[in-house]
Amino acid sequence: MTAPTHETSHDSFLGHLPVRRIGFGAMQLAGPGVFGPPKDRDAAIAVLRRAVERGVDHVDTAQFYGPDVVNDLIREALHPYPEGLRLVTKVGAVRDDQGAWLPAARPDQLVEQVEQNLRSLDVEQLALVNLRRFERDAPDADEPPLADQLGALAGLRDEGKIAMVGVSNVTADTVRTAIETVGIGEVQNPFSILDRSDAPVLDLCREHGVSYVPYFPLGSAFTGGPAAIAADPHVTAVAAKHGVTTSQVALAWLLAQYDRLLLIPGTSSVAHLEENLAVADVVLDEDDLARLEQVEPVTVGH
Ligand SMILES: NC(=O)c1ccc[n+]([C@@H]2O[C@H](COP(=O)([O-])OP(=O)(O)OC[C@H]3O[C@@H](n4cnc5c(N)ncnc54)[C@H](OP(=O)(O)O)[C@@H]3O)[C@@H](O)[C@H]2O)c1
Repeated sequence: MTAPTHETSHDSFLGHLPVRRIGFGAMQLAGPGVFGPPKDRDAAIAVLRRAVERGVDHVDTAQFYGPDVVNDLIREALHPYPEGLRLVTKVGAVRDDQGAWLPAARPDQLVEQVEQNLRSLDVEQLALVNLRRFERDAPDADEPPLADQLGALAGLRDEGKIAMVGVSNVTADTVRTAIETVGIGEVQNPFSILDRSDAPVLDLCREHGVSYVPYFPLGSAFTGGPAAIAADPHVTAVAAKHGVTTSQVALAWLLAQYDRLLLIPGTSSVAHLEENLAVADVVLDEDDLARLEQVEPVTVGH
C-alpha cells in the first residue's frame, strides 16, 4: 500500500474515533444496481487505492453490495490496511439471486453478517457496524424488536469485534432509543440538498454530538440525483460564483450543516473522487447558504 501523499489531518470524529470529514462510500463499485461485479475491476481497485493515497480514512461498505463483491474489492485493493483506516459496514439485509434487497435482521442473522464482514474484509475488528432498518422504506414491515437487534450488536462490541454500533435508515424515535440504550457512534440516513426531510434527525444528532453520515449525498444515483442537482438554478448560480461543480456545491452544503457530518460520496471514477475530495476547500458563505435553502426539495429513494 502506498502511504498517503499528504499529511493526514483529522478534522472530525466518527463516534470517538478521529477521521477526516470526507470519506468514501463503496456502493458504486459493484455492478449495475449494486449487483454483481464491476464492469472494470481494475478501475474499481484504482479508485479505492487513490482514495486512501489521498488520505481517505473512512470507507463505508456492506457485504450485500454485490453481494460479496465490494468487500472483496476493498480487501484486494487495500489489505494490509493503513493504520487508522476506519472500515464501516451495515447489516440487516441480504440479496436474492435476482438482486432484490431482502430484510435479514434477526439477532442471529445480524451476528452472522458481522462475522461475514470480518472474514471478507479480513479484519479483527470493524470500526462501526450500522443496524440497517427498513422502517423508513417500509414502515409496515414486520421487523424484529429493536432492543434485540441493538443488544446483539452491543454484544459483539463487548466481544471486541466491532468498536461502535450505528443505526441506519431510521426514525428519530429509533435514534433516541439507540442513544439511550446502547449508545451509538453514527446515524446513517438519506439526506442531501435535494432531500432535506431528515433534518429533525440531524438536529437530534447535533444535540447529542452523534456523527451524522448522509447516504445519497448527491440525491441518489437510483433516481438521477446528480443530474437533478446540476439542473437546479440556485445550485448552478452558487457553483458559477465559486468556479466549482454543482456536485461540489451539494457536498459543501452538507459539510456546512454540522461539524460531525461526515461525507461518504460514492463514485466509480477517479475523476469524481478527486472532485469530491476537493470539496474540503469549498467554503460557502451566508449568502450562498441562504440561496441554497431555496433549492426545490425532492424526496428520493431506491
Ligand atoms: N445505509 C444505507 O441504506 C445506504 C444506502 C445507500 C448508500 N449508502 C452508502 O452511502 C454511500 C453514498 O451513497 P451513494 O453512493 O448512493 O450516493 P449518491 O447520492 O447516489 O451518489 C452516487 C452517484 O453520484 C455520482 N457521482 C459521484 N461523485 C460525483 C461527482 N463529483 N459528479 C457527478 N456525479 C458524481 C456517482 O456516479 P459515478 O460512479 O459515475 O461517479 C453515482 O451515480 C454509498 O456509496 C454507500 O456506501 C448507504
